[in-house]
Amino acid sequence: MSEFSEKYGPWALITGGSDGIGLAFANRLADEGINLVLVGRNVGKLDAASKEITAKGVECVTASVDIGADGACDKIVAAIGEREVGLFVANAGADPNGSRFLDKDISAWDNLVTMNVNSKMHLCHHLGRQMRDRGRGGMILVSSGACYSGMFGLAAYCASKGFVLNFAEALWAEFRHHNVDVLTMVLGQTDTPSYRKILAESGQSIPENWADPENVAETALRQLPHGPIWNWGQTNDVAGMAPNSPDERRAKIEYIEQMSAAPLVEG
Ligand SMILES: NC(=O)c1ccc[n+]([C@@H]2O[C@H](COP(=O)([O-])OP(=O)(O)OC[C@H]3O[C@@H](n4cnc5c(N)ncnc54)[C@H](OP(=O)(O)O)[C@@H]3O)[C@@H](O)[C@H]2O)c1
Repeated sequence: MSEFSEKYGPWALITGGSDGIGLAFANRLADEGINLVLVGRNVGKLDAASKEITAKGVECVTASVDIGADGACDKIVAAIGEREVGLFVANAGADPNGSRFLDKDISAWDNLVTMNVNSKMHLCHHLGRQMRDRGRGGMILVSSGACYSGMFGLAAYCASKGFVLNFAEALWAEFRHHNVDVLTMVLGQTDTPSYRKILAESGQSIPENWADPENVAETALRQLPHGPIWNWGQTNDVAGMAPNSPDERRAKIEYIEQMSAAPLVEG
């Protein structure tokens, strides 16, 4: 057993483990000999991911659960059963709406907040207690640069990622005393099926220099002991990511609105 799997094994839970960044994490962890519990909604995608993972000689359990729905945590906990989860990768969390706040029914934002806040918090509480009692483990909360300020067309998403940022920092402060590492991975544009779908639906072109999911997973696992934050593509001393001054924050919001020519979905 490697040092890595001794600390973070024998099982890892990945929400949104059936494609993109989550599947890249699953493959990387399988290479470390860690067994996987993968959560997603689409059973066909989960089955395909499971086939890919088990071909590497580890076990894989899948759970088709909508983590944007109430009761998701209980269903995931049931799927985990008695398996010892030493690493939690909270990955699923993109905003599929591409819409201004008032242009969608409130249920769309309830689902997003349930996925990015409530379900995440419940799973961190449940698994965190087990990790604390074992005296080892890790959590990676995948986030976005949207965590640092409000952005036009991304109200509930930015707010939920802001929760993830502050939550991860606080858990890092508490859990490190129990040998449990916490990292929030703050991402920019990354080549995933979900993001490709958003780009296609809104008529935007493929970005240059977007991140590769394999690189993201590899980097996150390397940075895990060095939390609480890793900003993708930034050196650690970049100033102004989250300015405190109201004038600076207003200017940043207006700047981002002008830069994002992204058409939004009406109604
Ligand atoms: N891609 C980017 O450019 C980018 C940029 C910044 C931050 N991020 C962050 O990176 C993470 C992953 O993003 P992503 O682009 O790969 O898209 P994503 O939609 O968050 O992740 C895709 C994975 O999550 C599953 N999933 C999506 N919604 C779900 C739900 N309600 N319940 C259960 N599973 C769900 C998908 O399977 P099913 O569809 O079958 O459910 C798939 O396995 C997110 O937290 C996102 O905020 C991404």
